[in-house]
Amino acid sequence: MNHSAYPSVFRPGLFSGRTIVVTGGGTGLGRCIARELAALGAHVVLAARTPDPLKTTASEIEACGGSASWRSCNIRREEEVAALFAWVREERGAVDGLVNNAGGQFVSPAEDISQKGWHAVVETCLTGTFLCCREAYRASMRERGGSIVNVVSEMWRGFPGMAHSGAARAGVVNLTKTLAVEWAHAGVRVNALAPGLIRTTGLQKYGEALQPFLEEVARDVPAKRMGTEAEVSAAATFLLSPAAAYVTGATLCVDGGGSLWRKTWSIEDHEGFPPFEGFAPE
Ligand code: ADE
Repeated sequence: MNHSAYPSVFRPGLFSGRTIVVTGGGTGLGRCIARELAALGAHVVLAARTPDPLKTTASEIEACGGSASWRSCNIRREEEVAALFAWVREERGAVDGLVNNAGGQFVSPAEDISQKGWHAVVETCLTGTFLCCREAYRASMRERGGSIVNVVSEMWRGFPGMAHSGAARAGVVNLTKTLAVEWAHAGVRVNALAPGLIRTTGLQKYGEALQPFLEEVARDVPAKRMGTEAEVSAAATFLLSPAAAYVTGATLCVDGGGSLWRKTWSIEDHEGFPPFEGFAPE
């Protein structure tokens, strides 16, 4: 376990006195973001379904002199989300920031995704994000303003192999724009962050068989490598910070140019697109 302070490029004390909720804050990107925000003086509230990683990350933060609490919450359950934000309001007095990082998906060709599987992904990635935004707003941000960062993914050219996640994340980008406008009057900024292929522990979930493919895809990205958790965390930190005071409704891509240029899917040879000719052949 790494107990050294997080080496942020941002100024110490940037978030002193602020409370920031990070969903999925126990592992991967969420953990890294929570570590950075805590190193900059925020009290971070880590929320996810499984308590153990949350406890571990909270202990890491405290071991570095930071301040953290955790609470188990299934973001697909409305009452649990409401209880989370009511609790934060009660314990901390306000919710100044929210990072909607929790999500979950699985690789499958679209034709094999069951309705249950589809709903599970959409409920976590889209509905869960909506519920967290709404409850943060109701509990605190409506009165005191705040900043929300919705973590999505690089799905700009569709998301072959993960149709459910691509559709849900695209929905979150649109939700981000809507909330940015509806909540501007309350001083709430709402932005999205779209990481490309990032080397996180979460990549292992896709199984050993997929790892060579992921390495090959990384070599195709203009940056010629995967991104790091720290590169995504720095972008989230910027969006939460006063340096982004005039940024709302935006989506910041942290993808090494991958949304502009990279292979996402192999298309087998086929003749499924016979051309349409306007003129009859002579
Ligand atoms: N991470 C993945 N799925 C989640 C869920 N339903 N609630 C909270 N964190 C999650």
